[in-house]
Amino acid sequence: MFHSRLSPETVHARFHAMKRDLTEPLAHRFTTQDGRDLVAVVATMKPDDRIVGVARYSRIDAHTAEVAFVVEDAYQGRGIGTELMRALRRVALRNGVQTFVAEILPDNVRMRALLHASGVCREQTRNGEVTVSLAVGDPEGSS
Ligand SMILES: CC(C)(COP(=O)(O)OP(=O)(O)OC[C@H]1O[C@@H](n2cnc3c(N)ncnc32)[C@H](O)[C@@H]1OP(=O)(O)O)[C@@H](O)C(=O)NCCC(=O)NCCS
Repeated sequence: MFHSRLSPETVHARFHAMKRDLTEPLAHRFTTQDGRDLVAVVATMKPDDRIVGVARYSRIDAHTAEVAFVVEDAYQGRGIGTELMRALRRVALRNGVQTFVAEILPDNVRMRALLHASGVCREQTRNGEVTVSLAVGDPEGSS
């Protein structure tokens, strides 16, 4: 299972708390999508097409959605997160989502770099977490 191949560091960066094993309700949440308000895109690797990365958005209001990304450790830093962002933005634009927000830990340089490389971002720090807002349809982006 994809989740069980993630290192404790990656799990911590993604969930901000240790979730070594997925509970059933969480597993259900992460495998459910409706193609509009709750969307997931995955990256797979040949030859067995196993999942190595997942990016999701979950709509908060009419024009805003929260995003979360995770790439399997061995495949991080190879541009997969960037490709997942492109794919997720395409779907979001079609569905009227204008802003992505991501809750990240302050030391998460890679996710921060990914977001800032994707367009103009605004950052807010509260309670030890950074909230980054990104314009989904920003012309500098790759949509
Ligand atoms: C964050 C994450 C999804 C990014 O995916 P990825 O496939 O590693 O990202 P990419 O390879 O596309 O690189 C993204 C950016 O990070 C930069 N980067 C790569 N390695 C880096 C490093 N060691 N330090 C700093 N930046 C780095 C890349 O240069 C790229 O920026 P650029 O587009 O300006 O060149 C992935 O690292 C991950 O799963 N991390 C753990 C979970 C997590 O933090 N999730 C985010 C919480 S929502």
